[in-house]
Amino acid sequence: MRILSAMVCAAILWAQVGAVRAADSLAPTGRWTAYVAGRAATPPMGWNSWNAFASQVDEDKVMGSVRRIIDSGLAGKGYRYINLDDGWAARRRVSDGRLIIRTDRFPSARVPDTQTPSFRPFTDRLHALGLKAGIYSDMGRNTCAQAWGSTPQDLPQGSVAEREVGLLDHVEADIDLYFREWGFDYIKVDGCGLRDFGSTSAKVRAGDARAVTPILDLGAISRTDVAAVRALFQRVGAAIARSNPDGDFIYSLCIWGAANVRAWAKDVGNASRTSDDISPAWGRMLVNFDSAVHRALYAHPGSWNDPDMLYIGAGDFDADHPTEARTHFTLWSMLNAPLLIGADLRSTSPALLDILGNADIIALNQDPAGNQATVAYDSSDLQILVKDLADGDKAVAIFNRGSGAQQVWLQSAHLKYSDDAPIELTDLWTRRQSRFTKEIPLQVASRGTLIFRARGTRALVDGRYLSEQPGSVNPAVDGVTRPIPDPTIFRTAAGWNGTRGAGDRPQYAGWGGARADSTPYGQTLQISRKVFRSGIAILANSRLEVRNAGYRRFSANVGVDDSATDKTSTVVFAIHGDGRLLAKTRPLRWGEQPTPLDVDVAGVTLVELVATSKGASNESLPVAWGEAALTQR
Ligand code: GLA
Repeated sequence: MRILSAMVCAAILWAQVGAVRAADSLAPTGRWTAYVAGRAATPPMGWNSWNAFASQVDEDKVMGSVRRIIDSGLAGKGYRYINLDDGWAARRRVSDGRLIIRTDRFPSARVPDTQTPSFRPFTDRLHALGLKAGIYSDMGRNTCAQAWGSTPQDLPQGSVAEREVGLLDHVEADIDLYFREWGFDYIKVDGCGLRDFGSTSAKVRAGDARAVTPILDLGAISRTDVAAVRALFQRVGAAIARSNPDGDFIYSLCIWGAANVRAWAKDVGNASRTSDDISPAWGRMLVNFDSAVHRALYAHPGSWNDPDMLYIGAGDFDADHPTEARTHFTLWSMLNAPLLIGADLRSTSPALLDILGNADIIALNQDPAGNQATVAYDSSDLQILVKDLADGDKAVAIFNRGSGAQQVWLQSAHLKYSDDAPIELTDLWTRRQSRFTKEIPLQVASRGTLIFRARGTRALVDGRYLSEQPGSVNPAVDGVTRPIPDPTIFRTAAGWNGTRGAGDRPQYAGWGGARADSTPYGQTLQISRKVFRSGIAILANSRLEVRNAGYRRFSANVGVDDSATDKTSTVVFAIHGDGRLLAKTRPLRWGEQPTPLDVDVAGVTLVELVATSKGASNESLPVAWGEAALTQR
């Protein structure tokens, strides 16, 4: 407890520093501040042991999947990271604090004539095959399987101290062991150790684990110490950077969207889970998708939203459900989610491997522009997602969530293309081409997703709306100071406990965060009754960083959004270029006409958009950067 207290004290200190900084944080820095360390310029791709094997992972199972990933050609298509999840640790050796591997399950880790197993032979083998290796740990003293697993033979053994295989109190030594000594390239850091071992938990009461005061609560942000959690993850990040001087690592955070991680993970690591665990059930896949789909502005090259691993190969996504499997894969690709296969590939059908291996769809996920798809049409049954690609094409997915086939009109406006020029579509499953002007009728099967690459003439001819390039827009400060649950994220088809208990509750999923073509609360972007189909909305007291790839002008129509319930406070909108003030409005309040801003940004590499208010609460003061765009004019 002493060291945890020290860490939490450090975290509190950090939080105080953070609070002081909050006032300053609206000051432009001229720098892109989202995380760019590590090797995640595009989303990580590979395989993870958890969905297929849980804690019964062993070397044969892993290497069987590795063989198939290579033989099937999937490795060649980018699936390179082979990640061990929970279940590999035997215990922590108390004499020197070193982690001991389960050599009964990973025989290659036995080092002759020593009692000190090593994963080096395992990672050497993967590297020799042209692959990368990933490992799992937990931010607390114990892992999630230790909190929830029901088969003791699969868990670490020994005294309470020996069973403490998590990072807490061991950050630097463990990280060094994983990366420098064992040669891993990727780490997933889980969070059950910060959550599930309170003094009243069953494991603690049974004497199986030491108590750790929970600082993380998935169900209640109010019972979460956001600053302390963030500080712990930053400390691990610093250790990872030290242990990897060549920068060849991926740091994946796994706290399921708790602790408002959606707002800060993009500054701390390469990927961050936005929801609780996926299961092979349609409804659960939807919940995980929903937790990330409105968060496009929080994903950038180097830092991705992670709605959890693929479950293709099981349950509603098995070989008997190719439509659902294709949909799951298409949606994860459009979200720029990590593509981590979760199947036992030794027995996965060739048809499912073909889905995972669709190179045209993988290319959407791995597109270098790094734009997560945004929502062009939304309803509870049908969604249209659009993603701008680096070569100027777009991808469009039409997703039927419901139980009946749907007739859909795809319009040029969904794609922000001109109504008057032809648009070419290439179906990425069938390679069939079609062409239309203004709109086209399409049929989408129940639970199906149509996916096209599209080429047309942009409505904004000489530039890009910011909402078309979320990968280049970073809400450095998004104004959310009091996270509240997202009323749309609440249904898990297969609740963990069946129908025992009272069911699922809304989860915080970034409600109130910055959004493309929508207000922070999901409403139409609108200033004094003028509707903007394109734009960024964000709460007051916010700062957006925008990368400028050679455009000459920045323009927007700004104002307090009509959805603001604070109708009296004023907001000043300012535009900065590489740290210099370029333009500023007078104080604007609710109901005033949109104010046009148009500035020269030739030669500027970073534009910053700052909305400042002395108003009582940012949460009641959404502001709009209507039609915000970079152009060549
Ligand atoms: C948590 C994570 C899962 C998996 C398990 C391992 O539940 O969210 O992805 O890593 O722990 O115990």
